[in-house]
Amino acid sequence: MITKRFLQVGIFMVFAMLIATAFSTRQEGDPWVVPEKYKKMKNPVASDAESISAGKALYAKHCKSCHGTKGLGDGTKAAQLKTECGDFSKADFQSQSDGSLFYKINEGRDDMPSFKKKIPDADDVWSVVNYVRTLKK
Ligand code: HEC
Repeated sequence: MITKRFLQVGIFMVFAMLIATAFSTRQEGDPWVVPEKYKKMKNPVASDAESISAGKALYAKHCKSCHGTKGLGDGTKAAQLKTECGDFSKADFQSQSDGSLFYKINEGRDDMPSFKKKIPDADDVWSVVNYVRTLKK
């Protein structure tokens, strides 16, 4: 019967699609691609005591719960996340441009929230970037 055949093919296709979706989801550790425009962006906020202390306060409020006090990725919420938070003390991390960090903080990805709305003033985000620089080992 033609209808039975169609059903079989239909069911097969649904399964094939489900399997394809399962395998196409992002693997942990995929590089986080930052658009060229952001990579090259200059930090307009001088990394002075005022900016660093503003950044520190924002970090304590918005970031510490996951990234940990020293940015090691060991905040109280970190264990509940699917993705690792990274380690801000590592040279690998610190080798990224200020603009790249600015982009990632603004946009977020999966477990990492977007802070565009929570930290609406771009200069505040730059201050957080300045503070994160102080976490280098
Ligand atoms: C709910 C937990 C959570 C909070 C809150 C959070 N983050 Fe994240 N963050 C993550 C996770 C998880 C990742 C890894 C995301 C990925 O690789 O897909 C990440 C990644 C990052 C990265 C990129 C790391 C890298 O290796 O390039 C930066 C920068 C960052 N976070 C900064 C911040 C800052 C600054 C704040 C506060 C304004 C913050 N995060 C708040 C969970 C969080």
